[in-house]
Amino acid sequence: MKNVKMWCGVLSLAVCLTAWQGLTANAEDGEGSAKHSIEDVMKTAMKGGLLKKVTGGEASDEEKKQLLDLFVSLVENEPEKGELDSWHKMAGGAALAAAKVVVGREGAVEELKKATNCKACHDAHKGE
Ligand code: HEC
Repeated sequence: MKNVKMWCGVLSLAVCLTAWQGLTANAEDGEGSAKHSIEDVMKTAMKGGLLKKVTGGEASDEEKKQLLDLFVSLVENEPEKGELDSWHKMAGGAALAAAKVVVGREGAVEELKKATNCKACHDAHKGE
């Protein structure tokens, strides 16, 4: 009986350590843990014209989902400039609006346009 208890202890310690290592490895990754970098999102969605296609009503369902995926990645990133709180509001607002477009909520495109104000976000979060 004593042996069983000991082995249980050793086992759970091993499980704990593995989990902990996984967590800290992720945390140290920092920006790298996001699927797409902020730069990539800007290039593809903002400058690249994907957002325009979606707000112009010309995007396919696949493209709407791609935009949502990119905006979710914005939230996963940390900008070099500005408060994280403000970033989460702006990037989160864009992601939420993109999600509403995907599920076809009424007024979603208007909301998406407002939530992706280039200048407002750049003033607050784009470095030099
Ligand atoms: C939710 C915030 C946010 C919104 C909205 C936003 N941007 Fe950005 N943008 C950023 C941040 C932060 C950077 C700096 C990225 C970096 O270099 O780390 C950036 C950088 C850029 C860059 C430079 C990318 C590069 O190659 O380094 C371009 C171009 C750009 N944005 C275009 C746009 C356009 C066009 C719009 C509007 C349609 C827009 N952005 C809306 C946050 C935003």
